[in-house]
Amino acid sequence: MEKPAIAGGKPVRETKIYYGHQYIDEDDIQAVVDVLRSDYLTCGPKIGELEKKLCELTGARYAVVCSNGTAALHIAALSAGVGEGDEVITTPITFAASANCALYCGARPVFVDIDPETYNIDPRKVEAAITPRTKAVVAVDYTGQSADLEPLLKICREHNLTLIEDGAHVIGTRYKGQMNGSIADMTMFSFHPVKTVTGGEGGVILTNEEALYQKLLLFRSHGITRDRAQMEHEPDGPWYYEQVALGYNYRMTDMQAALIISQLDKLPVFVKRRKEIVARYNEAFARLPELFVQQEIPESDTTRHLYILRIVPERLKIDRKQFFEALEAENVCCNVHYIPIYYFPYYEKLGYRKGLCPNAEKLYEEIITLPLYYAMSDADVESVIEAVTKIVVYFRKI
Ligand SMILES: Cc1ncc(COP(=O)(O)O)c(C=O)c1O
Repeated sequence: MEKPAIAGGKPVRETKIYYGHQYIDEDDIQAVVDVLRSDYLTCGPKIGELEKKLCELTGARYAVVCSNGTAALHIAALSAGVGEGDEVITTPITFAASANCALYCGARPVFVDIDPETYNIDPRKVEAAITPRTKAVVAVDYTGQSADLEPLLKICREHNLTLIEDGAHVIGTRYKGQMNGSIADMTMFSFHPVKTVTGGEGGVILTNEEALYQKLLLFRSHGITRDRAQMEHEPDGPWYYEQVALGYNYRMTDMQAALIISQLDKLPVFVKRRKEIVARYNEAFARLPELFVQQEIPESDTTRHLYILRIVPERLKIDRKQFFEALEAENVCCNVHYIPIYYFPYYEKLGYRKGLCPNAEKLYEEIITLPLYYAMSDADVESVIEAVTKIVVYFRKI
């Protein structure tokens, strides 16, 4: 039997709508099949082709593709020289990987609060959190809106820090007219299936700096080099290679690379559709005083990866959890991005406590991630709006 809706009547949708979903067409499938029929499944020509394409897209000089975005962040932190006893500043409203990359290197993540309206890390608070141990800042482009990179870069230059942009959400966004990916010292993109462009798994670090590029290449592949200039010993034959650092196997396969190349051809249409859906949501939700629409800084021409619905609890008879359950009962699948990282037991055991970042903690109590992906039809979008509006009207405080 159909479950009744919490906000009364029948559910707005008969079938469930996902909160995120990849879009794969025949060209994508053929691109992967072509690799499977070729000589190289890894370390083949698709890797260089993808890296070149990502440089062309973003204007970055170098790209190092990796098995996933987390691996990419790890080698970025290593290449920035992050090590034992260092501190790395980041936001708590992000996926765990943004802070874990510091822990992997033996450093301590330092959580800095967000701007209450844009939800991105607040540059003024970054400056106040710098200590002699600070080595890097990991700025996250939460939901796809660019972090405010200009003040962040200025602070990093003044204090001799590396700015790593966790751009897992940001592909397709421009900051001050320039595609994100070529602005920070290093920028990561993720190609996880709910992201705008996917490779199943996959990531990249983009940089303009030759020295960082060379380190990234080493750390991606075991710390092994075949470049004579990087070797310490005399080669004893043409087969010779050396391990000169402790690296990892974070290589991407050619199947992943081929899929991402094919997906990138569709980036303009992906971007266009996401922007249309976000504009429609914003227009509908701005009319409801029970909801708060995420503010954008004028510098960011944003391609949203996530759409965050934020309730104004004082104006509703229900809290976020009940709102979430009411949406699910309308067959609208939702999610919550993110639980502040330092709430996790692993971080608690490292000594972090609630109360560190009040804006982030308040945001977490009030947010729900709504469906947003390329393949949503107009009818899907309208039914999400209908479900949200129905719940607001039913539970509003008059
Ligand atoms: C903000 C953020 N950072 C890092 C990651 C890690 O990327 P990946 O899943 O490709 O390892 C993700 C993705 O899930 C993310 O959303």
